[in-house]
Amino acid sequence: MPKLALLLALLAATAISCGHAAASAVRMQLIHTDAGRGLTPHELLQRMALRSRARAARILAEAAGAQVTPGEIAGAVPDTEYLVHFSIGTPPQPVQLTLDTGSDLTWTQCRPCPSCFDQALPYFDASLSSTFAGLLTCSSSPCQALPLTSCGTDSSSSGNETCGYAYSYGDGSVTVGLLVVDTFTFVADAAAALAFGCGLNNTGTGIVVDTFKSNEIGIAGFGRGALYLPSQLKADNFSYCFTAITGTTPSPVLLGLPANLFSSDPGTIQTITLIQNPARPSFYYLPLQGITVGSTNLPIPESTFAVTANGTGGTIIDSGTGMTSLPHDVYGLVLDAFVGQASLPVLNATSMSVSQLCFTVPTAGARPDVPKLVLEFEGGTLDLPRENYMFEIEAAGVSATCLAVNDGGGAMTIIGNYQQQSMHVLHDLANNKLSFVPAQCDQV
Ligand SMILES: *[C@@H]1O[C@H](CO)[C@@H](O)[C@H](O)[C@H]1NC(C)=O
Ligand SMILES: *[C@@H]1O[C@H](CO)[C@@H](O)[C@H](O)[C@H]1NC(C)=O
Ligand SMILES: *[C@@H]1O[C@H](CO)[C@@H](O)[C@H](O)[C@H]1NC(C)=O
Ligand SMILES: *[C@@H]1O[C@H](CO)[C@@H](O)[C@H](O)[C@H]1NC(C)=O
Ligand SMILES: *[C@@H]1O[C@H](CO)[C@@H](O)[C@H](O)[C@H]1NC(C)=O
Repeated sequence: MPKLALLLALLAATAISCGHAAASAVRMQLIHTDAGRGLTPHELLQRMALRSRARAARILAEAAGAQVTPGEIAGAVPDTEYLVHFSIGTPPQPVQLTLDTGSDLTWTQCRPCPSCFDQALPYFDASLSSTFAGLLTCSSSPCQALPLTSCGTDSSSSGNETCGYAYSYGDGSVTVGLLVVDTFTFVADAAAALAFGCGLNNTGTGIVVDTFKSNEIGIAGFGRGALYLPSQLKADNFSYCFTAITGTTPSPVLLGLPANLFSSDPGTIQTITLIQNPARPSFYYLPLQGITVGSTNLPIPESTFAVTANGTGGTIIDSGTGMTSLPHDVYGLVLDAFVGQASLPVLNATSMSVSQLCFTVPTAGARPDVPKLVLEFEGGTLDLPRENYMFEIEAAGVSATCLAVNDGGGAMTIIGNYQQQSMHVLHDLANNKLSFVPAQCDQV
């Protein structure tokens, strides 16, 4: 049977077996990349701030057409946030991949892995899997959906042409490998035969292994392209829900959500229409219109947040970013408004290796009032709870509360995970909408 027909047959078979699932069709487990490493909240937040700045620099560099060496910006911290856990093959080989709503190919490192980075789990080994359906051909639709492929022949495919790919990220770095099919197994045994990349040369992916062996062993593509996981699983919608960044409990990624999911509490839902930008087809753009700090609706010209055809501007929501990044001028206005309205002394926290705006807290452990931070979208508002924009640090006998927002340095606004903690975020692709619902994520 041709590979594509096999893929389709397996997908059809899966659709039937998934019909029994009561809640969502597919559930995956999500855990923060630094969970279980024994880091203090201060260390966790420093790492997150570094990652966020690196990510913003990469996204901006791509928009500007520049080539940037990944290691140069990322420093010693890998550019990864939350990892989705599932298995590939039979018997199942566990993988943990970065949940990335900014790209659409799913890949992991595969044996023999001539040019791979060190990872915490064994490399995926197709020879150990009885369900491995082999290499996809160049004419298969998953191969056609990739931007950059090459046809090769492989001894294992009896002279058939096989799909080699090179998939590049924000900074122009690439993962190079072969497109293959095997069974993915999710929580509750939902299984499906899916196309994914067997990455064989991933040295230029920007995944920098720091003092820890990488927990990330590839990327799960949830960006809006043709190959992204929800579409391969025939789901019209997906959601994620991030537990606190300093927490260690898992939470879910759900695909194919029950229609009545939010009906019990409609009052708290904010639903916003997504914007599509052909210049950056994988990104989820939102119509941000303004920002309110405390009593002040900041004087930001409307054009500041506009999506631009060259891909430099606009507001995206990105699961690969930790802290929200704002354009430089907007960041300045937010800072001024916080300094002007908070009745706390400003603290220069450079010596604590924190570059965000911090205030001294009079008593250790206190959570003094700070101005509200509200993001205003066309059609909805995100009135952030304090714990979604302030973080507390203690060092050298000083207690401080700091603003978890970065100066992105470019024209783009990137809404990061810190601002999405304890919220169920639904991407409804059939209707081109995104919804935020407050939730206790480890109980969703
Ligand atoms: C992108 O477009 C915006 C507005 O259309 C313009 O201000 C900006 O200079 C452009 N940037 C680049 C890198 O072309
Ligand atoms: C190669 O292609 C032929 C014809 O399309 C098919 O019958 C055969 O099974 C393929 N071989 C492999 C190993 O995929
Ligand atoms: C891996 O890719 C880089 C460029 O992306 C290339 O220079 C290098 O030769 C490749 N290594 C292998 C083993 O294919
Ligand atoms: C999600 O998509 C499925 C079809 O894939 C649909 O039946 C369901 O109603 C959708 N759920 C929501 C919350 O929109
Ligand atoms: C904070 O302190 C560092 C030295 O520790 C100094 O270089 C920097 O200019 C100070 N920043 C501000 C805003 O005062």
